Amino acid sequence: MAFPPAFLDELAARNPIEEVVGQYVSLRRSGSNLFGLCPFHGEKTPSFSVAPDKGIYYCFGCHKGGNVINFQMEIDGLSYPDAVRVLAKRAGLEVPEDEQYQSRYRQQERLWAMHKEAARYYHKCLYEPVGQEALRYAFGRGMTKSTLTVFGIGYAPDQWTGLTDHLRKKGYTEQELRDSGLAAVSRKNGNLYDRFHNRLMFPIIDVRGNVIGFGGRVMNSEDPSAAKYLNSPETLIFNKRKNLFALNLAKKSKLGYMILVEGYMDAIALHQYGFDCAVASLGTALTEDGAALLSRYTDQVVLIYDGDTAGQNATKRAIPILEKAGLQVKVLQMRDAKDPDEFLKKFGAERFKLLLEESANRVEYQLNAILRKYDLREDDQRVKYLQESAELISTLGSSVRREVYGGRVAEAAKISPEAMKLEVERARKRRLVREKKEQEKIDLSPARNLQPKSRSIHYDNMKSAMAEEMLLAMVLQEPALLDQTEALKQEMFSSQLLGKVYGQLMERHRQGVEVSAGGLTELSAEEMAHIAGFLQRRRGPINEQALRDCLQTIQDEYRSASVQTEDDLLALRNRLKQRKGRKA
Ligand code: CTP
Ligand code: MN
Repeated sequence: MAFPPAFLDELAARNPIEEVVGQYVSLRRSGSNLFGLCPFHGEKTPSFSVAPDKGIYYCFGCHKGGNVINFQMEIDGLSYPDAVRVLAKRAGLEVPEDEQYQSRYRQQERLWAMHKEAARYYHKCLYEPVGQEALRYAFGRGMTKSTLTVFGIGYAPDQWTGLTDHLRKKGYTEQELRDSGLAAVSRKNGNLYDRFHNRLMFPIIDVRGNVIGFGGRVMNSEDPSAAKYLNSPETLIFNKRKNLFALNLAKKSKLGYMILVEGYMDAIALHQYGFDCAVASLGTALTEDGAALLSRYTDQVVLIYDGDTAGQNATKRAIPILEKAGLQVKVLQMRDAKDPDEFLKKFGAERFKLLLEESANRVEYQLNAILRKYDLREDDQRVKYLQESAELISTLGSSVRREVYGGRVAEAAKISPEAMKLEVERARKRRLVREKKEQEKIDLSPARNLQPKSRSIHYDNMKSAMAEEMLLAMVLQEPALLDQTEALKQEMFSSQLLGKVYGQLMERHRQGVEVSAGGLTELSAEEMAHIAGFLQRRRGPINEQALRDCLQTIQDEYRSASVQTEDDLLALRNRLKQRKGRKA
């Protein structure tokens, strides 16, 4: 189901990409492009480009790219129709009625409203007689009244249909109740009943301020088999892998970094003690989506997972995920308490601040982890400790840092700093040789280099695909050239994707509508990113001869691919011969 092309044209025209991007990224002009720091990955030098004339953005670092709608989707985590809606609103355009999209969005709006109503209901219950125990439990865990308000914490009474009845009264249908995950269907009689009973309720709120789900904690577990936490199921509005608890608050923090913890209670306690930059993942390990979301609001994260083995393992897994999202990672090793919540209650904010200040950067943390593996009283283990540490230290770019950390390791293993320095240098040389070889391998296989970065797009005929990319880049820059490509048909493209793009451009050209990358439709985000990528990277000559060369290559490759019989082959040879004769 699509929006009418004329509407999308208007939308693109009234939302110049540089303006829309400019709301989130500060851009500086350089030639026909604008550059800024990429909002999708952490970086210090701008590799994020916007081409107003082409209507696209593209990051040379993380290879995200697309048109203005893709940008709105990516930056706000929106679906396609929602991004269109936001842009339409921004430009004061009315979105044409499209029943399917409309109803999906309306469904979401209903679910958001319903969750807000549920949060109100739970919060109110906390202060009623039925919530007495729960309130006592919350206070007993050190939460202040203001914390209960700020987080909207509530109580789900020990009833079968308290919330369900309440929501019905507010006009929500059976279907809506089921879709929300707040009610479940009884297997016995098919009736609806509340999902959460007798639990302290934590509303999960997304960065736009919508309540999208709940976490509920048992209080006095008479039933030891009851899960400590019960979370909302995945719904139209809730995806636990793509959201972080308390980010709606933490994103406003002035502290300049974020703290990532394991539990709701830890995040809440941190906020209460003044660390208003704390967030928690939602009953799951940190995901790439979670890290990417975080990297939109900060470039530095302090990881504080529980001190137990599970927490340590989770830390090990989280570090590369965060670093891949461009975040600088520090690790705070929990001591004298099992988690931040317990620590704060035992020792207070001041002591915690000290812990934070000395929280190790990644290298220190990893060196400590290596140290713990070996018994330094044994000579062979000491050697292994030194080698492994040298390997790690050799990855550091700065010689000062290599020296500092090398010195520490030397001291721990009781060898001279000079000997350690030699060991690190050796590891470094080995690494450089290895990296050079790998780079050479990449450089020597141009075909692999040119393959699209995205795994789902693959070029079967590289020669033709390069000509196809070049041709598209040219006609997008100079749409009038499309007058001369009449002979080129969509099906001649070796890449289905590029052919589709060509088909759309040609169609628009024929209809006399403006031809631009911004107006492309029916492409996935990945496909758009790929197209934005080659449009920004390609800087070739744009003229009729260059165009003819591309055309020729595509047609030749198409014909030789469609050669089936001896006759086809003969015909092709003749054509090629004739052309050579003409050129000469
Ligand atoms: N969790 C969950 N389901 C469980 C247990 C835990 O989803 N059955 C998730 C919750 O997001 C929880 C986090 O894992 O916040 C950490 O669990 P845990 O350390 O057990 O909880 P705490 O936050 O420390 O809670 P409390 O202090 O109340 O025990
Ligand atoms: Mn805890």
